[in-house]
Amino acid sequence: MSDDLSSLKAETEAALAAAPDLRAWDTVRVGVLGRNGALTGLLKQLGAVPAEQRRERGAALNRLKDELAAAIEARRLALEAAELDARLASERLDITLPPRPAAPAGPAQGSIHPISRAMEEMAAIFGAMGFAIAEGPDIETDWHNFSALNIPAHHPARAEHDTFYLPPATAADQPPRVLRTHTSPVQIRTMLERPPPLRVIVPGRTYRADHDATHSPMFHQCEGLALDRDITLAHLKGCLIDFLRAFFGIADLPVRFRASYFPFTEPSMEVDIGWNRKTGEVGHGGHWLEILGSGMVHPRVLANCGLDPRAWQGFAFGMGVERVAMLKQGIPDLRPFFESDIRWLRHYGSSPLAPAMLHEGV
Ligand code: PHE
Repeated sequence: MSDDLSSLKAETEAALAAAPDLRAWDTVRVGVLGRNGALTGLLKQLGAVPAEQRRERGAALNRLKDELAAAIEARRLALEAAELDARLASERLDITLPPRPAAPAGPAQGSIHPISRAMEEMAAIFGAMGFAIAEGPDIETDWHNFSALNIPAHHPARAEHDTFYLPPATAADQPPRVLRTHTSPVQIRTMLERPPPLRVIVPGRTYRADHDATHSPMFHQCEGLALDRDITLAHLKGCLIDFLRAFFGIADLPVRFRASYFPFTEPSMEVDIGWNRKTGEVGHGGHWLEILGSGMVHPRVLANCGLDPRAWQGFAFGMGVERVAMLKQGIPDLRPFFESDIRWLRHYGSSPLAPAMLHEGV
């Protein structure tokens, strides 16, 4: 290497080593490789070098350029690492600091989320009527979520469910599994697991590919199932009227049953409650609001679970937990339910020390 190149190399390396930060580093970089940099200048002068030396000189310059570029890059990485280390050191949390004193109102207290609250109240009210709690998995087989509930493949009801499909657990495992679109598959699991007579409610998470002000891809339902030898539609109506009046705490809440269709119940009924469409207030006001689905368990569903439909019969129902919580507490928007905004939780949450009420005397 000729002397001028050696000294450029040595000078650059020294300047890089001396650069204390990325700003100084950049000055060195531009001074060597920039448009008016030292090395760039030497490359530009290559044309003026006598022809017999030009090839050798050009090769040496290119080698030097590669070496310097590598040295410059290495210094950048080292400086960046050092800056990050310095920042981490300066931002480290001192967990030995004593906590800040509590707000003047007293120590911060958590609150029960409106969803948990509504489910606790449902458990309390149905519990008093002899219902136990049952649970099932969020990831369901196609059979439990649809087929066993009398919704075979290609049934139009499947299209209404906006189902999230999951890859099968194994290649041989067909059809694919699903995120349960309702809590009804737990009806099937319960009937397969325990002999009737039985009464269960199923509060739990459900999933549909739907998202706007009134729909969340994950939401909650509470299912109900009562099976015995002689359960009739009258039991269904009495049970749900009692439940709705207790839950909303309105002794004369208007309740209406309207013929409907679900593949897994026959007959099927949608249940409406009285409300005021303008104020959103539940109770009176001359309008009807659909609140849950229900019906007598379809004989084919009983048979799918190995039960003799001539010996056993019963009713089932399902309701959206967010929906009833919103109505009961006058919450206008569904989305904040899942945003964990502490102000919303403080406002709509309830005291963990106040037990879910049975609304006795209603
Ligand atoms: N599974 C139904 C739904 O998600 C509700 C329902 C449950 C209807 C039980 C009847 C009986 O819409």
